Amino acid sequence: MRHETFLDMEHIRESPQMQSHSLEGFIPLLSLTEGCGVLLVILMIVWTGYYRNGFSWRSNLNLEFNWHPLLMTIGFVFLYSNAMLLYRMQRNVRKRRLKLTHAGIMLVIVLLVVIALVAVFDSHNLAQPPISNMYSLHSWVGLTTVILFCCQWVAGCVSFLYPGLQAPLRASYMPLHVFFGIAAFVGAIASCLLGLNEKAFLTLHEKYSALVSEGILINIIGLLLVLFGGLSVYLVTQERYRRLSRSEDEVLLSG
Ligand code: HEM
Repeated sequence: MRHETFLDMEHIRESPQMQSHSLEGFIPLLSLTEGCGVLLVILMIVWTGYYRNGFSWRSNLNLEFNWHPLLMTIGFVFLYSNAMLLYRMQRNVRKRRLKLTHAGIMLVIVLLVVIALVAVFDSHNLAQPPISNMYSLHSWVGLTTVILFCCQWVAGCVSFLYPGLQAPLRASYMPLHVFFGIAAFVGAIASCLLGLNEKAFLTLHEKYSALVSEGILINIIGLLLVLFGGLSVYLVTQERYRRLSRSEDEVLLSG
């Protein structure tokens, strides 16, 4: 009996799955990522709230616009990264709960993105004279990303939550879900960078090249977007940080 137990332990120790699941470096990297994310959101609030004069709704279209970059950053960047990393951060929580939370955060993101889009379309359509829509590279990349994200959300809910595909179909859809989920996140980072750059040129004009403080702040926000995006993608693609499936996962999921 003792001998069998020993063999089992040797097997576990040498199993490739266990060997590739060293969590070394996860906590420091996650802390760095979250630190960058929080700083990114704070600097975005400082930029829109202080340099761009704060927020309003239809009574002041310039201030209504400010919701657009702020809500996109909070929803489509910060919350999105956290929703992707949820399974790796909450390793011991039951899978069903994780899936519901993952889908729930994605739903909050959809709502924030819709408000952010209403704000920017209002700032164009209600202006006197109206400003034309969907002319810039930023708006094309941005809207494509939003459409991809929404398709992902619907496909994810149908496959993994309700009505739920059979296990083999679910398993074959999973790599696509992961790939397009990360692709939409990269698209969101790219959209923000393009949007920031466009706004810097539209509002600062030649002051941008004089390196005024607002321009420097915009550039720092851009760098943080790259850093936060890069770290998030690294953490979510490292095989060794993947949450190991637990025996009760399947039972709880199909139940
Ligand atoms: C993932 C995040 C983002 C998405 C999906 C997105 C999407 C869009 C879309 C679809 C439009 C077109 C609206 C219209 O034509 O009426 C737009 C406009 C605009 N966005 Fe964003 N946006 C994002 C983030 C940002 C950020 C962070 C900024 C920074 C200030 C920004 C700045 C602008 C500006 C200046 C416009 C008006 C000019 C234009 O149409 O390109 N966007 N955005």
